[in-house]
Amino acid sequence: MAILKIARMGHPVLLQKCAPVTDPGAADIRRLVADMMETMEDAPGVGLAAPQVYQALRLFVFRVPGGRQDPADTPIGNTVLINPIVEPIGEETVMGWEGCLSIPDLRAAVPRAARIRYRGTDCDGNVIEREASGFHARVIQHEYDHLDGILYPMRMSDFRYFGFTDELDRAGAKG
Ligand code: NI
Repeated sequence: MAILKIARMGHPVLLQKCAPVTDPGAADIRRLVADMMETMEDAPGVGLAAPQVYQALRLFVFRVPGGRQDPADTPIGNTVLINPIVEPIGEETVMGWEGCLSIPDLRAAVPRAARIRYRGTDCDGNVIEREASGFHARVIQHEYDHLDGILYPMRMSDFRYFGFTDELDRAGAKG
């Protein structure tokens, strides 16, 4: 296993539409997923998409830590989602704070669908199909966007809520 270098905003790999994974069980994909999970934990972060480690492939890893999530959420351990599909349930959107390992030290409030349904597979071909809300839904939408070359500032509706994490903390903005 290895800690991977993370691409930062400005690198063109982050703006690509990623290609489907043809063989989720291939040895190089399994190694990539294991390394991405280790990199996510090391950062630390709650999600990491393949283009963030210079691989323009449709897969991401994520987790929902305990104690941080919306009351509607339950904690979820390290999970990979390969060739995911994400769709909103209903029209409701919610604002929430997001950061990104490719945009260090910054944070912003971003509107996202309040509820989603998603589907993908793991490396063994097992189908993962869930409905999500709260923090869980936000993480999935953020990571899924990476696979289409979309970074969270492109989703923002109010740039007053975009700032450096330490300044926002001093100002008392919720994290
Ligand atoms: Ni990100």
